[in-house]
Amino acid sequence: DWTMAEFRSAKIAEIREQVGDKRVICGLSGGVDSAVAAVLIHEAIGDQLTCVFVNHGLMRSGEAEQVVSLFRNSYNIPLVHVDAEALFLGGLAGVTDPEAKRKFIGKTFIDVFDEEARKIGGADFLAQGTLYPDVIESVSFTGGPSVTIKSHHNVGGLPERMNMKLVEPLRELFKDEVRDLGRELGLPDAFVGRHPFPGPGLAIRIPGEVTKERCDILRKADAIYLEEIRNAGLYDAIWQAFAVLLPVKTVGVMGDGRTYDSVCALRAVTSTDGMTADIYPFDAAFLSRVATRIVNEVQGINRVTYDYTSKPPGTIEWE
Ligand code: XMP
Repeated sequence: DWTMAEFRSAKIAEIREQVGDKRVICGLSGGVDSAVAAVLIHEAIGDQLTCVFVNHGLMRSGEAEQVVSLFRNSYNIPLVHVDAEALFLGGLAGVTDPEAKRKFIGKTFIDVFDEEARKIGGADFLAQGTLYPDVIESVSFTGGPSVTIKSHHNVGGLPERMNMKLVEPLRELFKDEVRDLGRELGLPDAFVGRHPFPGPGLAIRIPGEVTKERCDILRKADAIYLEEIRNAGLYDAIWQAFAVLLPVKTVGVMGDGRTYDSVCALRAVTSTDGMTADIYPFDAAFLSRVATRIVNEVQGINRVTYDYTSKPPGTIEWE
């Protein structure tokens, strides 16, 4: 694509200009945006870039392994893998307010990056895969909307004082453009086509307190839901699909026993940029197949509901 080829070389020149001979740290979240940013910056400055993958314990099933293997094996880009599950889950204990969760996660990411920068003898820049919609939906540094809907962790969720300057080469792009750029850079189609996944991860899909146990329950339900979506050939028709674990218990019956377990909500939307969204109209047979599997296979969930809310008035994520 001519436009993306142009964008690629213009950005590479810009990154070189901004960074000079300084060191850059790039946080990989497991999603498409940070991966595309990392590959682009690596092309610009090579081994001045250190990529850090922080496992905050809030990833989906299998996600950490996929990113690590893509970077180490396919791209040969050195990757520091930080296991910070205890740090993140410890700090989230007792936190139930959605913005407090986001702020804590954003700040803790920066703490981990600062620590990793120190280990490599210092870094002047932090690279992020921030997109245009992230900028306009958060309070941006240059003054965004007067009402904060959510502090996207890579924009409004950052601490006010930070030692590193930001490198954000995707800041003008929408998601579909980032995917084009990813293809232009040679990222595999299956990777580029992945549904968006928010930086704060499963923490904002578990209203109420986040614990390891609840993350494990949600990961199982989410994996079943996505497996059924893939099997039905619907993955690429959907912008984003995920399960949410609710802090509500209801009564059920299984075999000849009573159950008293959590409710899981399923969300699936179509969208072009994440700023507005419509619900995906699954047929009833599909939804009942997923509900049956989740209740039968995931201990801790005994009821499944489907979220029928478009954006607006809902948002895509629940927090
Ligand atoms: P909402 O929930 O605001 O989400 O309708 C719009 C899109 O943004 C994603 N999202 C995030 N992405 N960091 C990110 O990188 C975040 O903190 C964040 N919060 C929401 C969300 O998954 C959806 O695609």
